[in-house]
Amino acid sequence: MPDEADQFAFAAELADELEDEEEADVEAEAEATVESLGLPMPVLAVDEALALLAGGDLELIGRLWVSSNNALLGIVRGDGIEAAVIHKPVIGERPLSDFPDGTLARREVASFVTSQATGWGIVPPTVLRDGPLGSGMLQLWIRTDPEVDPVDLVNAADPRLRRIAVFDAAVNNTDRKAGHLLPMPGGHVYGVDHGVTFSPVPKLRTVLWGWRGQPFAEEEVAVLRLLRAGLDGALGDALHELLDPIEVRATERRVAGLLASGCFPQPDPRRPALPWPPV
Ligand SMILES: Nc1ncnc2c1ncn2[C@@H]1O[C@H](COP(=O)(O)OP(=O)(O)OP(=O)(O)O)[C@@H](O)[C@H]1O
Ligand SMILES: [Mg+2]
Repeated sequence: MPDEADQFAFAAELADELEDEEEADVEAEAEATVESLGLPMPVLAVDEALALLAGGDLELIGRLWVSSNNALLGIVRGDGIEAAVIHKPVIGERPLSDFPDGTLARREVASFVTSQATGWGIVPPTVLRDGPLGSGMLQLWIRTDPEVDPVDLVNAADPRLRRIAVFDAAVNNTDRKAGHLLPMPGGHVYGVDHGVTFSPVPKLRTVLWGWRGQPFAEEEVAVLRLLRAGLDGALGDALHELLDPIEVRATERRVAGLLASGCFPQPDPRRPALPWPPV
C-alpha cells in the first residue's frame, strides 16, 4: 500500500493526465450535448421539487454514457412545471463486492435525507419511486456553472467544500470525486452520486482531505450535534426505512466519533483513501 503522500502525489498526477487526455474532451463534449438539449431546470423550493419528483409524470430521454450504473436523463412533469432529472433504476445497478445488491438507490435517498438534516442542502432533492424500468432514485438535475472547474475547487481546498467533507465523513462516502461536485451559478456547490455510502465499515474515499486532522468549526460541531440528535428521532426513523439497522447504528457511532474527536478525519493508511479515478 503506498503511503499517504504517495497517494496524493499520484492522484494529482493522474488528474493532470486525465485533464490532458482525449477523455476530458469527450466529457466536455458530452456536457455540451446535455446543455444543447435545452433541458428545463427551474429553480424550485425543496418541498416543491420533492412533490414534483414523487408525483410527476416521468419521461426518460436518454442514458448518461459516463455512468457506470446506467443512469438515465429524464423530464418530470406535473402541475404545469417540468424539470430535468437523473434517474437510476435499481435494475441498472452494477453489482459491487462491498455493498449488497439493489441497495444503491436507497443510499442515494438516505444521503439526501441526511443532507436535509444538516440544513446545508448538499444533495439535490432526491426520491425513491417507480419509473418505466421499475423502482429507482430520481433526483433533480442541477444547472452547473460552466466557468467553475470542480478540480480547481478541490485543489484550492475551497472553503465551500468543508461542509461537504463533514457530510461525507458522516455518511461514510466512498466515492467523493471532483466530478461529483456540482458548482452552481451563484456559488452554491452540490454533491451528487451517493450510491456507495453508509457502509458499516469505515471506508471514507474522497478527494476532500484538505482539512484532515483540523478541528471542526463551531458551526460544523453544531451540525454534527444536530445529526446525532436527529438519529435518535426523525432522521433515524427515515434512515431505518432505507438502510439496514446495522448501517444506521454505524452512522450513530460515526457521528458520535466525529464529535468526540472534534476534528476532520485522517486517511486510514490501511485502506485506499482516494476514489478511483479521482476525477
Ligand atoms: N443531479 C444532477 N445534476 C446535474 N448533473 C448531475 C446530477 N447527478 C449527476 N450528474 C452528472 O452526471 C454524472 C454521472 O452521474 P453519477 O456520477 O451520479 O452516475 P454513476 O453511474 O454513479 O457514475 P459513476 O459510478 O461512473 O461515477 C456526474 O458525474 C455528474 O456530472
Ligand atoms: Mg459518478
